[in-house]
Amino acid sequence: MHIHNLSQQNSILNSFISEIRDVDIQKDRMRFRRNIERIGEILCYEMSKTLDYKSEIITTPLGKKNTELFNDDIVLCSILRAGVPLHSGLLNYFDDAENAFISAYRHHKDNPETFEIIVEYLACPCLEGKTLVLADPMLATGQSMVATFEALKPFGKPKNIHLVSVIGAQDGVDYVNEHFGKDTHLWIAAIDETLSDKGYIVPGLGDAGDLAFGEKLQQ
Ligand code: URA
Repeated sequence: MHIHNLSQQNSILNSFISEIRDVDIQKDRMRFRRNIERIGEILCYEMSKTLDYKSEIITTPLGKKNTELFNDDIVLCSILRAGVPLHSGLLNYFDDAENAFISAYRHHKDNPETFEIIVEYLACPCLEGKTLVLADPMLATGQSMVATFEALKPFGKPKNIHLVSVIGAQDGVDYVNEHFGKDTHLWIAAIDETLSDKGYIVPGLGDAGDLAFGEKLQQ
């Protein structure tokens, strides 16, 4: 797998990542969502450099200009609900992308430290020959990303696969690295050291879904 960890190079991206981590700035939900969106836009821009392009002639009021435009059929797939602001950021740039949504959540049985991933709702277009962008803002264990990909298999074989995350734990990055092919790309804004006993990224930022949309009752 090709791992593109964007925080390895200093850029304005670092400011947006520090804001989503900061406990004081996190109190502003709108700012949290917008920062995730902005990070999605930057990851999308970087990813776009690896897509397939074709020449097109554009007519301006004063003449014609030969331009390279990307030629991939993109399907953006996000996991509800934390994935929504990241999905918006990607869709801000991939104007004509098709979209897939899936609900995947951690189900803790008796032991709060162990869980299985339950996939329920799934809406997806045909994936055959397309470029699948699978987005999950927090790549903690990597299990949701892999479970989602398994659930998408009946919809066709994509030409290319790009995984997009805001913050990952090294364990999660290693897990997806083992489960996806060597041609898959991972675009990620930061990779943190470790996971807590409950599977949260440390230092991470906390619960991305709650920070974006408010706390939920535990089921
Ligand atoms: N999901 C989150 O929202 N945060 C984490 O740290 C891990 C998974």
